[in-house]
Order: sequence, then structure tokens, then C-alpha cells
Amino acid sequence: MMLAVDPSKKISFNRCIGDGDLVIVYERHDNMKAVKVCENSVLQNRFGVFKHSDWIGKPFGSKVLSNKGGFVYLLAPTPELWTLVLSHRTQILYIADISFVIMYLEIVPGCLVLESGTGSGSLTTSLARAVAPTGHVYTFDFHEQRAVSAREDFERTGLSSLVTVGVRDIQGEGFPDDFCGKADSVFLDLPQPWLAIPSAGKMLKQDGILCSFSPCIEQVQRSCETLRANFTDVRTFEVLLRMYEVREGKMENSQADESVPIGSHRCKRRQRSSEGGNGMEISSSPTVMARPSSEARGHTGYLTFARLICLS
Ligand SMILES: C[S@@+](CC[C@H](N)C(=O)[O-])C[C@H]1O[C@@H](n2cnc3c(N)ncnc32)[C@H](O)[C@@H]1O
Repeated sequence: MMLAVDPSKKISFNRCIGDGDLVIVYERHDNMKAVKVCENSVLQNRFGVFKHSDWIGKPFGSKVLSNKGGFVYLLAPTPELWTLVLSHRTQILYIADISFVIMYLEIVPGCLVLESGTGSGSLTTSLARAVAPTGHVYTFDFHEQRAVSAREDFERTGLSSLVTVGVRDIQGEGFPDDFCGKADSVFLDLPQPWLAIPSAGKMLKQDGILCSFSPCIEQVQRSCETLRANFTDVRTFEVLLRMYEVREGKMENSQADESVPIGSHRCKRRQRSSEGGNGMEISSSPTVMARPSSEARGHTGYLTFARLICLS
């Protein structure tokens, strides 16, 4: 179970791995996968064969060995890691956008959140954790199979008591009337969000916040036009994340003098030249270098936030 949601919906990984649990098998940051622990199964990879029975009873985070002495880590399947390993049935939101959305929508335990579309459930997983233990996420997608797969994923990850997945054309029909005036926040990731905004406005509590994610600025422009009718404090952001590689490497003297990578830190093992006795320092390696990662993700989309105008 992903979030160890017990009857009191308490979220904790402060327990040992059991038969049937979902774990994230971590080889390195760019090589992880979700595995359901099954007493009689094995995991086979380039490091050897790992028996699941060896994993049972170990705490999350344990390093486990293969028959050849290779190792992997068994991590708890948090929303952050789940986002990296889930099967992509659609485009998904990633950690930078997700964290900004949750903060800016002011989502805390106990909130009622409406979402459409569900897609691959990447954002939904984090929304569910943010509203636990007493809140709930109602997420809608008009694609029946995607809704079924999302439900299966929430079941696997132990979140099903916090999320309800509905099949509905939110652009055409709007959110169900049952939620009128009850939502703390609404999140839209739809191709034509402006069609769903009037309904989203009706669902929000006074002072509630809406967020719409769109990859194209033309979608943002149309959404903002629609938002003007009933919303205030309309703001659009693009979240750009810059990752860095920081590692020790060897540099030649000339390289060190002329083409020092951003943030290089020549602090180690400086040697005095024995030849010539001029006291010159030779900055030999190793040197700790930092440079922007080539894997860094660029544009994902624009996040438009708006607050419902209070009428009283
Ligand atoms: C890009 S995906 C959402 C991804 C999601 N935010 C995530 O992080 O995994 C967009 C979803 O909206 C759904 N969708 C498109 N039009 C819709 C509509 N009119 N009503 C409900 N869902 C719709 C699509 O089926 C698709 O699954």
C-alpha cells in the first residue's frame, strides 16, 4: 500500500515492507520501477536475481542484495516517486508544476478538491496526499478507460479512500451540481478550459481558487478572458526548473584557467611546483564542478490561478 492509509487514513511509511506492498525499486535516479511485493516472486535485472521474500520485514529505504551481490534500494512509493514511474497514458504534470499547484491552491488536509481531466493521475496522487486524512479529491475524465486505469492505480497505491474518479465530459456538462459551493479548489488540465470555467466558478466556495494548466499561451489568453467575469487576482506562471550536476572531475591546468565550468570549486589537493622553486601553485584535479544538467526539462505549460470574487 502506497501511503499506508489505515482506517483512520493515517499516512506513514514508518513500518516494514509486507507481502502485497508496492515498492519503488531504485537503481539510480533515472532508473526506478514500481514492483508489487509477492512472497514467491523474484526481480531479475543486470545486477542479478532478487528474491521478494528477502524484502519482507525490512523497513522502506532498505538496501537489498541479489544472488550475485548486486544491490538496489526499496523505497516507499511516495507521490514524488510515483510520478516518475507511473505509466504515461497521457501527458502528465511533473514535480515542479505539482508542488507549485498545491502551494498556490492552498491545499491542506481536509480540503475538497475538484479536478479534470484525470489523465494518468500524476497530479491526483499528490492532491490526495495533500488533502488526507479528512479531505477528498473528486477527479473527472471523459475517457472511460483512463478513468478505469486511474482507479486501479489509486487502489494499488492505497489512495482509493481519498479519491473518487468520475467519467464525465466536464467541458460539455460541467461538474456535477452536487458540488455547488463546496469545493475549496478546482484544477483543470483540459484542452479548452474556458468551457469548464463557468461551472468551476459555481463549484467553488467563496474565496476558493481555480488553477488551469495549459501548454499553449493561446489557451491561457482565452481562459483569462473567461475568468474576468467571476474571478479576481488572475495570475499566470511558467515554472522552469534548472537541475545541476555537481561532481568531482579532473581538469588540466589550462582548462582550469580558461574554461572553468559554472560554479567550479578548485579547493582540493593543491600542489607546490618542485621545479623552478617559484612557489607557483599547480591546481591539479580533482575539482568539484557544477553545471546545468542536460536533462533539464524546459517548457511544460502555463499555470493560471484565479480567486473567486466574493459577492458578500
Ligand atoms: C493531459 S491529461 C491530464 C493529465 C493529468 N493532469 C496528470 O497529471 O496525469 C488531459 C485529460 O483530460 C481529459 N479530457 C479531455 N477533454 C475532456 C473533457 N471534455 N472532459 C473531461 N476530461 C477531458 C483527457 O481524456 C485526458 O485524460
